[in-house]
Amino acid sequence: MGPVRVRVPAKVNLQLAVGPVRPDGFHELVTVFCSVGLHDDVTVTTSDETRVRTTGPEAHLVPAGADNLAARAAEALARRAGVSSGVDITIDKDIPVAGGMAGGSADAAAVLLACNEIWGLHWPAEELVPVAAEVGSDVAFGLLGGVAVGRGRGELLEPVGTTAEFAWAFAFADEGLSTPEVFRTCDRLREGVDVPQPEVAEDLLAALHDGDAAALAASLANDLQPAALALRPGLADVLAEGTRAGALAGIVSGSGPTCAFLCPAEAVAAVVGAALAGLPGVRRTRTARGPAGSPQLAPVNP
Ligand code: C5P
Repeated sequence: MGPVRVRVPAKVNLQLAVGPVRPDGFHELVTVFCSVGLHDDVTVTTSDETRVRTTGPEAHLVPAGADNLAARAAEALARRAGVSSGVDITIDKDIPVAGGMAGGSADAAAVLLACNEIWGLHWPAEELVPVAAEVGSDVAFGLLGGVAVGRGRGELLEPVGTTAEFAWAFAFADEGLSTPEVFRTCDRLREGVDVPQPEVAEDLLAALHDGDAAALAASLANDLQPAALALRPGLADVLAEGTRAGALAGIVSGSGPTCAFLCPAEAVAAVVGAALAGLPGVRRTRTARGPAGSPQLAPVNP
C-alpha cells in the first residue's frame, strides 16, 4: 500500500484539574481536552526500519531517535500486532514543540492511525487506545479529536458532543517547557496541601453545550498554570496583554508555555494575536477555531 497522510489537530485543556500523585508517579487528572485548528501533517509509508523526518520551521526542535513519540508509536503498534517491518514517517510540523498543545502526542496518534491502515490491521479505535496510552497520556485523545473529558492519566476518555465553535488566539513561547518539570513544580508549590480528587466542572460543560463564550471563559481553569508561571514568570505579562487587547480570558495551555486566549469573535482573535506578537518571550502568534474535528486520514497520490 502507498503512503498515507494524517492531518492531526493540536489541543488545549479547557479544564486541567490535577489531583494527588498516584503510586505509579503519575497524577490523577480530570481534564477537558479541546482540539483546535492548528495541525501537523504526518505522512507514513512502509519501510524496513522506522525512521522519522520532520519538516517546517520547528523541525530542529523535535527530538530524533527513540525519544520521538511518533517512532515509539509505530514500534509499540508493531510489537502488539506482530508486525516485523517499520515505517518511514515525515512530519510537517505546525504545532509548537514542547508547547503544551500535545503536538508530539498528536503525531504519535497520527502514526497509529496510519500504520493501522498501511499494515492492513483494521483495528477499531478502542483497540488502538491501549497502545496510545502506552506511548503517552495525551495520545489517546489524539486518536479522537473534538472535545473529550479525560480521566486517569488523561487516557480514559469520554467524548463530549458539541456543535459550538470558538475563536482562539495563541502565543507560542521562545522556548518550550518540560512537562515532567512542570508537574514536579506543581507538586512543590502544593507541598503540605491536602490535594482533593479532581472533578469535572459542570458549568464548563454547560457553557460548551450552549456555545456561550463568556461563560466558557469564566470556567477555564488549569491547575498547572501556577507552576508554568513560576518557571516562566514572563507568561503573566503575556496573559495580561491578551485580555487587555480584547480576549475574554487567557490561560496557559496544558503544561505550557503556550498561552491560549478565548476571544468573542475571529476579528478580536486577530487583534489579540497582533498585540501579543513581539512581546518579550513570544516567538510567534496564531489564531484558530476550536473545537476542531478528528484526525483526517487520506491516501497520498504518488
Ligand atoms: O504520559 P506522558 O509521557 O505524556 O507524561 C509526561 C510526564 O508528565 C510524565 O512523565 C509525568 O511526569 C507527567 N504526568 C503526570 N501525570 C499525568 C500525566 C503526565 O505526572 N497524568
